[in-house]
Amino acid sequence: MPTPSTLISETDLQNRIDEIAGEINRDYADSDLLICVGVLKGSVFFMVDLLKRVTAPVAVDFFQTASYGGAKVPGEVRIRKDLDLSIRGRDVLLIEDIVDTGYTLRTILDLLRFRGAKSVKLCALLDKVEAREVEVPIDYRGFPIENVFVVGYGLDYDERYRNLPYIGVLEEEQ
Ligand code: IMP
Repeated sequence: MPTPSTLISETDLQNRIDEIAGEINRDYADSDLLICVGVLKGSVFFMVDLLKRVTAPVAVDFFQTASYGGAKVPGEVRIRKDLDLSIRGRDVLLIEDIVDTGYTLRTILDLLRFRGAKSVKLCALLDKVEAREVEVPIDYRGFPIENVFVVGYGLDYDERYRNLPYIGVLEEEQ
């Protein structure tokens, strides 16, 4: 298997996560319970490293989504695994690995609000700014990146590379 070239090093990832956790700790200093919702599977590595640095009381839950036939049109994101917890009246922090077109996050954010969360914020490690097709406000953003396919630190290519400790790029010929 080819080794992806490094786009964001492990050190840079961990330093940025320190900073984001600092912001979250300031913003939620008075929250009695922050419900942190990860989107499976890609967000898991980021979520674990981030939440180990968060000092507010948290509960952890997960969504898993799938797109019908890979089609990228609004309304075609399917919930494969729903939340276990009720979020009514709660502060919710949605944690995602990457925002690409924005359809997945737009769908989940709308659903969280519909279910009566007190507040909903989005924390995304990577932001493919130029790929955006629907608007998704990112409250805590790790890194803007170019419109390239990335792997590692949770992100996969055909389920591979998730356990790389850095964000890498698969070259075209690979
Ligand atoms: P969106 O709905 O187009 O924003 O897609 C978001 C999802 O697509 C992410 O949660 C990833 O699972 C996947 N994705 C988007 N870009 C990449 C990439 O560069 N590498 C790996 N997965 C990606």
